[in-house]
Amino acid sequence: MNLKKNIQKANGKLGILIPGLGAVSTTFIAGTLAARKGIGQPIGSITQMGRIRLGKRTENRNPAIRDFVPLASLNDLVFGGWDITPDNAWEAATNAGVLDTELLARLKDELESIQPMKAVFDHSFVKNLDGEHVKHEKTKMDSAKALMLDIEQFKQKNGCDRLVMVWCASTEVYVEQQEIHQDLEKFENALRDNHPAIAPSMIYAYAAIQSGIPFINGAPNLSCDIPAIVELANKLEVPIAGKDFKTGQTLMKTILGPGLKSRLIGIDGWFSTNILGNRDGKVLDDADSFKTKEVSKLSVLESILEAELYPELYKEMYHKVRINYYPPKGDDKESWDNIDIFGWLGYKMQIKVNFLCKDSILAAPVVLDLVLFIDLAHRAQMKGIQEWLSFYFKSPQTLQGLPPIHDIFQQKIKLENTLRHLMGEKLINHLGLDYYEEEQ
Ligand SMILES: NC(=O)c1ccc[n+]([C@@H]2O[C@H](COP(=O)([O-])OP(=O)(O)OC[C@H]3O[C@@H](n4cnc5c(N)ncnc54)[C@H](O)[C@@H]3O)[C@@H](O)[C@H]2O)c1
Repeated sequence: MNLKKNIQKANGKLGILIPGLGAVSTTFIAGTLAARKGIGQPIGSITQMGRIRLGKRTENRNPAIRDFVPLASLNDLVFGGWDITPDNAWEAATNAGVLDTELLARLKDELESIQPMKAVFDHSFVKNLDGEHVKHEKTKMDSAKALMLDIEQFKQKNGCDRLVMVWCASTEVYVEQQEIHQDLEKFENALRDNHPAIAPSMIYAYAAIQSGIPFINGAPNLSCDIPAIVELANKLEVPIAGKDFKTGQTLMKTILGPGLKSRLIGIDGWFSTNILGNRDGKVLDDADSFKTKEVSKLSVLESILEAELYPELYKEMYHKVRINYYPPKGDDKESWDNIDIFGWLGYKMQIKVNFLCKDSILAAPVVLDLVLFIDLAHRAQMKGIQEWLSFYFKSPQTLQGLPPIHDIFQQKIKLENTLRHLMGEKLINHLGLDYYEEEQ
């Protein structure tokens, strides 16, 4: 038996601070409020509806995860955030058009009370948007300090015991890591010098971690995935996780890919295309923002299929991902996958997937689980990159040089074993020979 870790109790209020009050975040907030009023079910949330097996299969111990690990209660959550438009959460949710107006009307008072703070924004990082509700500080370091002041004031005003920050703002343009991202000293000098390679999402991450708050990156931009921010998180003992929520087409890819690979079915090509009409789609219509998303989406299959180990099955695979902005679709994304596969003796077959999904409906439970789990990690003194949360990300952040795990089933085992480890329960490796040995 492992030793149970020393985990502080989840007493008091947990503030959830969100850069970006758009479709995903308002669907998450409204859904959480609906769940706590008992007028909606938090479907898709592992923390609210999941169970975990403990001990042997014959023991029948399958507690609800929320009873097994000490998580913050939905009743203790308080929401706040920043946006480049001054719309409150009710207006933003109404504009996003994901949830029906009847449901939103029942949550109106609470949603209206969530007013975004002025954002740290830079048009050169999100070329298809313009913002008027923004801060105008002299340097990027001044912007970070202004965010830290917002955080402190939010905490005081709402009587929060703890906070977490989750980036749900637009995808920024593709940025390669540079020298100034490599260590904290260089990064802080670059903040003071207004270096152009410091994106707003990095400033939010820096401000959160400097304030001792866990940070989650839901978009594919680098944000906390640079050595300087990892160094800061380790130094201040703050957990971080990213990047890019795994929903929609990539979720399907990490469900299907490991299945095909497990049976050693070959793949000649995997063509994925999407149409979507929300603001995320509009932002991704810009080539530089799309490049960030493309890199995140493409990395998934290569890692699952391990072409270097199975060259005869996957080396020649052609993988293409496209996103097309098509306003009539709104948040109802439609994605198509054409998968050219081959089996025994090289005989060719095809799989077609047409997924009519609602992106924000898939993303909302991911946000809820991530904020509750990263708060748990913080109370359990876990610091730096939280790889056990890979389950929720398209492009999981790992230690530099350590290949990420993309297979969703392996990711789930890792998540569950981490919870068992924290609570001093035996890890489950599915060997199962002991049942048969006991028989003899
Ligand atoms: N919906 C999904 O399933 C999904 C999956 C993975 C990742 N994501 C990512 O999550 C993010 C949010 O998606 P969405 O559909 O809610 O988009 P959205 O456009 O509805 O919301 C994004 C919000 O961020 C605001 N914003 C932009 N820059 C900002 C800044 N610097 N500071 C504060 N606010 C800023 C915008 O004004 C907008 O209100 C996107 O980056 C998207 O790529 C979404």
